Amino acid sequence: MADKIEYKVPEIKSEGQKFYHVITFGCQMNERDSESLAGMLEDMGYLPTESREEADIIILNTCCVRETAESKVFGLLGRLRQLKVAKPDLIIGVAGCMSQQEEVAKKIRHSFPFVDIIFGTHNIHELPRMIQQVRENQEAVLEVWATEKGIAENVPVRRKDKLKAWVTIMYGCNNFCTYCIVPYVRGRERSRNPENIIEEIKGLVAQGYKEVTLLGQNVNSYGKDLQMDYRFADLLLDLDKITGLKRIRFMTSHPRDFDQRLIDIIASTNKVCEHFHLPAQAGSNRILKLMNRGYTREHYLQLIDNIRKAIPGASITSDIMVGFPGETEEDFADTLDLVRRVRYDSAFTFVYNIRSGTPAAKMEQVPEEVKSARIQKLIDLQNQISLENNRQEEGKVLEVLVEGETKTNPDKLAGRSRTNKLVVFDGSPDLTGQLVPIKITKGRLNLLEGELVPGGAVK
Ligand code: SAH
Ligand code: SF4
Ligand code: F3S
Repeated sequence: MADKIEYKVPEIKSEGQKFYHVITFGCQMNERDSESLAGMLEDMGYLPTESREEADIIILNTCCVRETAESKVFGLLGRLRQLKVAKPDLIIGVAGCMSQQEEVAKKIRHSFPFVDIIFGTHNIHELPRMIQQVRENQEAVLEVWATEKGIAENVPVRRKDKLKAWVTIMYGCNNFCTYCIVPYVRGRERSRNPENIIEEIKGLVAQGYKEVTLLGQNVNSYGKDLQMDYRFADLLLDLDKITGLKRIRFMTSHPRDFDQRLIDIIASTNKVCEHFHLPAQAGSNRILKLMNRGYTREHYLQLIDNIRKAIPGASITSDIMVGFPGETEEDFADTLDLVRRVRYDSAFTFVYNIRSGTPAAKMEQVPEEVKSARIQKLIDLQNQISLENNRQEEGKVLEVLVEGETKTNPDKLAGRSRTNKLVVFDGSPDLTGQLVPIKITKGRLNLLEGELVPGGAVK
């Protein structure tokens, strides 16, 4: 079992009100980490600000899963240089997956010497001490731990949302898909102790949270590293018993580790939502093997069948990649075929991108123009299916957790169905935070329009 280390409250005295600004790139795990960065900064007396100019400390929480994410960070650092010149006391920190890579940390140090703190994914809880160090010594701090020294529990957190909370249940990944950098920057799988997770979620419910999303790169492996016979399905069963909690979601699931016991347990629970994000990545067995995904298209299709049999109406979404090294037209046709067979409600589509240090970087690459043509075909197909699926929802009554007024149209309310579809409808903002029945009147590409069922049971 992973050791637990306690968060230490820093002794930093603030002179005058100071402000912080955290910019997040990448996945939900990073979003959740940023909520801890914000929590620690608030504990130190900083207040949040939307304005970079007003901020006394700016932290970039970075992602390196694709090159585009990295270029954005380098571009932003270039622009922050002027801010630092205008305000020399400004503290700039770079955290996360990019800086976890030694050569990237060195590059940031060299190309952007005005950056005060560079730290990785394993020591974010050390931020207050690093800030203190910068203030006292007036010199930059570069601290990237090769591994974590145990899971830091009780780190302060400032959550972005008041109804829905992200709860990381495990860190790292053991899968080493041949294209992916994540295992190198997030380390091996470490599961949080179930008691800590349950306690955190009970605390959230006491604060009024209605929904939790359990996070991990592969939540289906949860518990394998704990010295007890307790797996992801057991955690779901325990969380399902928490009074006041309305919805449980999780991501990401790995198709190889999604077994029948888990499907049956999910079918037996009330709170686990009928939405499964099951990244297929590719539809060709040859490519799946080269990717080291550990399953075949037949296994994947069978899994989708089993889920749909046990949980009617389940929504399935995916991540799909095109242009993996060596992908032929035939392989790509297999991917399109898989998408047609599964009929995903939506999918994140990616063009394969070389990540140095991963095995696929050394394989024979697909030309850029071929990749561009393939991604366009894939997006067109998926959009067509998403729209058709959403039209199928017309006439149905869905339970929606009301999140509040829409950003673009304050007269409209928005929320999510249990199947994680965005639903927009007319109603009073007082409904925010409630579960309401909505009759779907129109299915669009990325959302459903509906109307409140008069006198419908509101839980
Ligand atoms: N743990 C999750 C996904 C984490 S990364 C899983 O296994 O499904 C999110 C997505 O980024 C992946 O699903 C993959 O589709 C994409 N991705 C990862 N590495 C990539 C690369 N080198 N090029 C393009 N897309 C990549
Ligand atoms: Fe990357 Fe594969 Fe791990 Fe997902 S399962 S984070 S794609 S190595
Ligand atoms: Fe990116 Fe790190 Fe997440 S590389 S996708 S932020 S785990």
